Amino acid sequence: MKVSENVSLRPYNTFGIDAAARYFTTFRNQEELQEILLDPRWRSVPRMILGGGSNILLTQNFDGLVLKNEVKGIEVVAEDDDHVYVQAGAGENWHQFVLHCIGKGLAGLENLSLIPGNVGASPMQNIGAYGVEIKDTFHELEALSIDGKSATLFNAAACAFGYRESVFKRRYRDQFVILNVTYRLSKHPTFHTSYGAITQELEQMGVKDLSIRNISQAVINIRSSKLPNPAEIGNAGSFFKNPEVTREKYEQLKADFPNVVAYPLPNDHYKLAAGWLIEQCGWKGYREGDAGVHVKQALVLVNYGHAKGNEIYALSTKVLESVQEKFGVQLEREVNIV
Ligand code: FAD
Ligand code: EPU
Repeated sequence: MKVSENVSLRPYNTFGIDAAARYFTTFRNQEELQEILLDPRWRSVPRMILGGGSNILLTQNFDGLVLKNEVKGIEVVAEDDDHVYVQAGAGENWHQFVLHCIGKGLAGLENLSLIPGNVGASPMQNIGAYGVEIKDTFHELEALSIDGKSATLFNAAACAFGYRESVFKRRYRDQFVILNVTYRLSKHPTFHTSYGAITQELEQMGVKDLSIRNISQAVINIRSSKLPNPAEIGNAGSFFKNPEVTREKYEQLKADFPNVVAYPLPNDHYKLAAGWLIEQCGWKGYREGDAGVHVKQALVLVNYGHAKGNEIYALSTKVLESVQEKFGVQLEREVNIV
């Protein structure tokens, strides 16, 4: 395996941060990964698994070995009357995988169109958008332990999925390398159109007959209209999670701020729109050097060119503190800080 030294990670993270990896390599299958992980030379060196780099903020050079996952391949592994089980290599591009499934008439992932990144990271934070999360169609994944010794299958229960959460972000952080993920897709679609502006967008598109292809296109249109394209402006999507508060806290906020945007949850709690909280603190469109808060979506922090990761991080701290001060609500970063 070829290991390069002092490699700029700028092309490998959608924030476009120019931090370097002391060592960098790629792997295309389990054998290549094991060759590295079992090599005594690398055992005591910190390691970072990289997918599409669309959910990380590099705040410093990485003094270790970056392993870029390039495990490819999409195949049907099982089928029953209602479902097809499709397995994808962790290094497959997520959106291309979604389009592939739609092309085969397999339903379940269409609302998750155009999310950047790779298949292997999709279970990491249980990616979600427009009323759907991957946990809804997830079947299982295969992951190699970071010592390179054993591969394990994880079903949905073992992944402990939550809102932008999984066991791989918590208890097993940096303990496993996800090699492939299998989704249970439906031959008979159930359409999810109630969330956000999907119905409105479908009307505007002149859609008469619903299909997974139409829903995918509606989601693509909505996302393109408000989220910055990382190819043009560096970003990692939502920088913070939407915070959950108790009913009492929500009622107090509603009394003080009648326009507060919140969604009731089944557990008698409320999810607040962090974008609204941040916008109310005056951050929307704010810019400090090349670090900023997106003009159309206050939940998205951006790099206009040459911002350093610690400048974006410092801005996120100011945002977090001002939301705490004005609303008494603690935001939590969604992006993985490296
Ligand atoms: P990376 O950024 O490469 O990695 C993320 C984390 O996972 C890191 O900690 C990394 O070490 C770890 N990791 C990656 N691959 C593996 C692997 N194979 N095994 C073990 N660990 C691994 N997210 C949503 O949920 N919903 C959205 O709507 C959404 N919209 C976005 C819009 C934009 C414009 C952008 C830039 C991002 C958005 N995101 C969204 C965030 C991001 O796209 C997802 O989190 C995505 O799954 C990250 O994939 P990645 O391959 O780029 O992961
Ligand atoms: N809002 C504002 N000002 C803003 C932004 C949002 O007031 O600047 C309010 C609006 O009222 C809007 C509401 O917040 O209606 C919700 O905004 P939006 O529909 O854009 O969604 P979001 O809650 O900001 C979440 C996810 C996104 C996902 C979308 C669509 C989180 C942290 N973010 O954003 O995921 O694409 O819903 O489902 O849950 C990501 O994780 O990176 C990501 C982009």
